Amino acid sequence: MTAKGLTLTRHILLEQRAHPAATGELSTLLAQIGLAAKIVARAVSRAGLVDILGVTDEINVHGEEIKRLDEYANQTFINVFGHSGLVCTLVSEEMEKPRHLPENCAQGKYILFFDPLDGSSNIDVNGPIGTIFSIHHRMSGHQHETPKEWLRVGTDQVAAGYVVYGPGTILVYTAGAGVHGFTLDPTIGEFLLSHENIRIPARGKTYSINEGNSALWQPQTRTFVDYLKEPDAGTGRPYSSRYVGALVADFHRTLLHGGIFLYPGDIKKPQGKLRLLYEAAPLAFVVEQAGGRAGTGTERIMDIRPTDLHQRVPLLIGSSEDVAMAEAFAQSRTKPGPQMRK
Ligand code: AHG
Ligand code: MN
Ligand code: MN
Repeated sequence: MTAKGLTLTRHILLEQRAHPAATGELSTLLAQIGLAAKIVARAVSRAGLVDILGVTDEINVHGEEIKRLDEYANQTFINVFGHSGLVCTLVSEEMEKPRHLPENCAQGKYILFFDPLDGSSNIDVNGPIGTIFSIHHRMSGHQHETPKEWLRVGTDQVAAGYVVYGPGTILVYTAGAGVHGFTLDPTIGEFLLSHENIRIPARGKTYSINEGNSALWQPQTRTFVDYLKEPDAGTGRPYSSRYVGALVADFHRTLLHGGIFLYPGDIKKPQGKLRLLYEAAPLAFVVEQAGGRAGTGTERIMDIRPTDLHQRVPLLIGSSEDVAMAEAFAQSRTKPGPQMRK
């Protein structure tokens, strides 16, 4: 058990000690993500001011950045990793093509995939939003200019995680040795260990899905959600519904309390809405490291080899028993899935 309040940097260095071959570059990369998160957190906390005070030049300039928080967050990552010597290529939801940082490609060992700002629709209403990141080793040589470099399978991830900008700013990451959460103390500008070795409950009591899409759902989705709503105290039903509309916030609640988040394919969006490389795959790595499960309904998220940079996938993610049950419903053709275990 490590001391609560340990800084993110110290925790990463302790983790690195467990890997003698580690050269410290991954530790530095993760610490840089912490820096980018602090910069974005500061902008997020002032996002509302733009609408009130957006009349002076000084605010206008800042406002443009903040008003387009997605772009501001994206540019923050470019600035933080440019000339870092760590990351040769950036893949972002906000950039159609991969962005090579040539100054880093001689020695940079990593490729960084990220959703700089997740849940953008929540910005104007002061709702929780987030950042999601996934780190892969670069292929050797000059392959960084080829799709092979960025169409990577989830099981190859070196590290992954997310930041939730909510009442507090929390950074959660895994480097393959468990899942750890850090809360930003803005008075000292440090992320301090607050959730060591997070484990997701095997089953939860909440389901998280946009019910507004229910007219478009596949029959199996409808059957599953109706099943969760049926009162049956013996099997812990009905489940409660929770939906924030920001994947990172809905996922973070599910990770800590258990349950299931679903953004399934439907008749209008057969592949759902969420992107594989910088939304589903990083969160799948985190949830599996915490003892949970993540799939499309028919396939493990971490096994999917992408064919397109911004490829979307259906996502069922959360407690192992809840996701396994959702998959049983998704694969059932006529009858409802198995009875819930008592
Ligand atoms: P982003 O803001 O990065 O585009 O992500 C938004 C995503 C995700 O955060 C959330 O779970 C989902 O959109 C909500 O979609 P609906 O509004 O269709 O429910
Ligand atoms: Mn997103
Ligand atoms: Mn986004």
